[in-house]
Amino acid sequence: MQWSPAEELPTQEEKEVALGKLLFFDNILSADRSINCASCHIPAFAFSDTVAFSKGVGGRLGLRNAPSVMNILSRDSVFWDGRAASLEAQVVFPIEDHNEMDLPFAEALQRIQQEQTYQVAFHKVFGHAPDSASVVYAIAQFERSLETENTPNDRWLNDEENSGMTAQMIRGRDLFTSDRTRCFDCHFTADFTDDLYHNIGLFNGQQFNDSGRVLINGLAKDLGTFKTPGLRNVAVTAPYMHDGSFKTLREVIDYYDEPAKFMFNSINRDTILPEKIGLTDSEKDDLEAFLHSLTDDQFVLGKR
Ligand code: HEC
Ligand code: HEC
Repeated sequence: MQWSPAEELPTQEEKEVALGKLLFFDNILSADRSINCASCHIPAFAFSDTVAFSKGVGGRLGLRNAPSVMNILSRDSVFWDGRAASLEAQVVFPIEDHNEMDLPFAEALQRIQQEQTYQVAFHKVFGHAPDSASVVYAIAQFERSLETENTPNDRWLNDEENSGMTAQMIRGRDLFTSDRTRCFDCHFTADFTDDLYHNIGLFNGQQFNDSGRVLINGLAKDLGTFKTPGLRNVAVTAPYMHDGSFKTLREVIDYYDEPAKFMFNSINRDTILPEKIGLTDSEKDDLEAFLHSLTDDQFVLGKR
C-alpha cells in the first residue's frame, strides 16, 4: 500500500517512515528506472534477496550477497565490510553503484525534486523541498522502522506462556550459547551480532578472494574479515554469507562443525572458531531449530 501525502499520519516519525518507504520502492532511483531498493531487499524475505548475487541495472551482477535490512536500527556501521558509518551514509552507495542502481546521487535528487508527489510530501513532512539530507534521512527512518521481535525466542526470554519455543529449540539454544560451539562469542546481543568483523574461513585468496574489511581499513588483521551478520529472521534470508556460498542453514551448520572439510586452505581464519565441533545429526537439528526460533511471526506461514 502506498502512502499519499494527502493522507494524515499522527506522528512526525510515521510521516518520515512513510516517505522513506515511498522512496525505497521507487524505480526513479535507478538509472533506467527498472529497479528499486526492494528489488534486492525483498519484503517477504526479511528485505534480503533470494539469490547469491543480485541483479542491478542492465542485469549486471553485484559482488556480494544482499543482506536483510531489518533490525539494523542498532548497527553503528553497515555493509559486509562496514564501509558506511550510518544508515544515512549508506543510502548513496546502492544508488551510485554501477552494478546496482547506477545513478549519480545528484541526478537522483533532481528526479525526486521534479516529481510533484515528492514536492508535496517533503514540504509536508520536513517543511522544505527535497534535499540530499532529507532524502537519505527518510530512507534511513524507513529502515529503522523494520525491527522485529515477535519470535518464539523473544517470547520465551520474556517468560511468556505459549511462546512457541519447543524443547528442541531450547536444546539448540543451549548448544548455540555453549563453549563447545562458541556461536554466542560472535552472535550475541539482542540481534545476535557483536558488530565486529571476523574471518570465519571463507577466504583463501583463490576462488574465495573477497578480502573484506581490509579493503576499507588497510589493517592486515582484517584480511578476509566481514561484519558478523545479525541472525534475526535468518531462516528466511538464504543464501548465506557475504558471497551467498551456503544455500541452507544446514550447510552453514555443517560448515561450522568442521570448516576445514569445506575449505582446507583458508587464510587468517579466526581462532575463536573450533577446528571441529563434532555435532551429531540430532544436535545439528537442534541448532537449526534454534535458528528458526529467531523468525518473526510475520514470516511464518499461517501467522501473517
Ligand atoms: C542490485 C541490488 C541492490 C539494490 C538495488 C539495493 N541494494 Fe542494498 N545491498 C545490496 C548488496 C549486494 C548489499 C551488500 C553489499 C556489501 O556489503 O558490500 C547491500 C547492502 C545494503 C545495506 C547494508 C545492510 C547491512 O546490514 O550491512 C543496506 C542498509 C541497504 N543495502 C539498503 C539499500 C537501499 C536503501 C537501497 C535503495 C536506495 C538498496 N539497498 C538498493 C544489494 C542491493
Ligand atoms: C568468530 C566469530 C563467529 C562465530 C564463533 C560464529 N559466527 Fe556465524 N558468522 C560470523 C561472521 C563474520 C559471518 C559472516 C562471514 C562471511 O560472510 O564470510 C557469520 C555468518 C553466519 C551465518 C550466515 C548469516 C547470513 O545472513 O548470511 C549464520 C547462519 C551463522 N553465522 C551462524 C552461526 C552459528 C550457528 C555459529 C556456531 C556454530 C556461528 N555462526 C559462529 C561470525 C561468527
